[in-house]
Amino acid sequence: MNDIYILAIETSCDETSIAIVKNGSKCIYMNVLSQMDLHANFGGVVPEIASRKHTENITMVLEDVLNNSPISISDISAIAVTYSPGLMGSLLVGVEFAKTLAFLWDKPLIAVNHMAGHIYANNLTSNLKFPLLAIVVSGGHTNLIIMKKDYDFNVIGSTLDDAIGEAYDKVARVLGLKYPGGPNVEKLAKNGQVNYNLGTIKVDGYNLSYSGLKSSVINLVHNEKQRKKTVNKNDLACSFQTIAINQIIQKAQKAITNYNIKNLIVAGGVSANRYLRQEVEQLCKKNNVTLSIPDFKYCTDNAAMIGAAAYPLFLKKKFVDFSLNASSSDELF
Ligand code: KG4
Ligand code: ZN
Repeated sequence: MNDIYILAIETSCDETSIAIVKNGSKCIYMNVLSQMDLHANFGGVVPEIASRKHTENITMVLEDVLNNSPISISDISAIAVTYSPGLMGSLLVGVEFAKTLAFLWDKPLIAVNHMAGHIYANNLTSNLKFPLLAIVVSGGHTNLIIMKKDYDFNVIGSTLDDAIGEAYDKVARVLGLKYPGGPNVEKLAKNGQVNYNLGTIKVDGYNLSYSGLKSSVINLVHNEKQRKKTVNKNDLACSFQTIAINQIIQKAQKAITNYNIKNLIVAGGVSANRYLRQEVEQLCKKNNVTLSIPDFKYCTDNAAMIGAAAYPLFLKKKFVDFSLNASSSDELF
């Protein structure tokens, strides 16, 4: 079979990204234009600004990809785009742009779910091996998913309230750190110790919860301020991170045992976290499970992961027509 080159577009949040991916496993060229610095001024993503910036940036990003990738338009087999979940206005920019390109260049169009993208990002580093347990940890989601084959997503556990990345971002804000908070909280935590008691999280089954932990941190900071005491930010970040990550490790251990898991993957923006990586490595070693985590550049939002997730859909000829719409639905898949 000829090599399949998919031009993929991702605009679900605050990154405008276009990539060309070969056979779902090799990123030939990618441009990720982040709006992070802009949103940092507001302490989080402002949806209206995000969609306006995508509109301004997307043609420049495409121009760069077309000028610098060794693949010409005639070599491209299909156009793939993230259609859900995400910010409605942001998603719409990508979806309408993808439809225009598919029409103009006469290529099939593939609609890709953003969460599937995070999972299939692993194929850019190593092959997904089924059956597997996927730990999906991002700014919007925290899920444990069992996959027995391609595109077979059995969500066994989800956060009941905040996503883990969201909790990191809120803790960062209360500690006076810039958005996105995750990497900044991680930096402090590295130099801290677990010296604060932030309580315990009790959630049944495989579900998770982060709002209680987040509130404990916020309350502690406010109380110390009222008592005119200074908070040891490194220790507080470390205490928070330890509980936040350990919750996932405990649930993952339970799933590994009960579902007899042999392969584990970690996906989503928080998978860039080094403490999480270290803890899952230990978990996998202990249970004799194969671990796969994408390269750092494929952990946070990017278009290469959308090209990787589009490939199995291309093989099954799961194309969509121009009635495709963006969906900001809370439904995962
Ligand atoms: O997957 P992603 O790029 O966007 C969503 O789909 O949400 O994830 C972004 C989230 C943010 O909440 C960010 O703070 C978090 O991932 N994040 C981290 C780290 N890097 C990014 N959280 C903890 N540690 C990190 N190193
Ligand atoms: Zn994401």
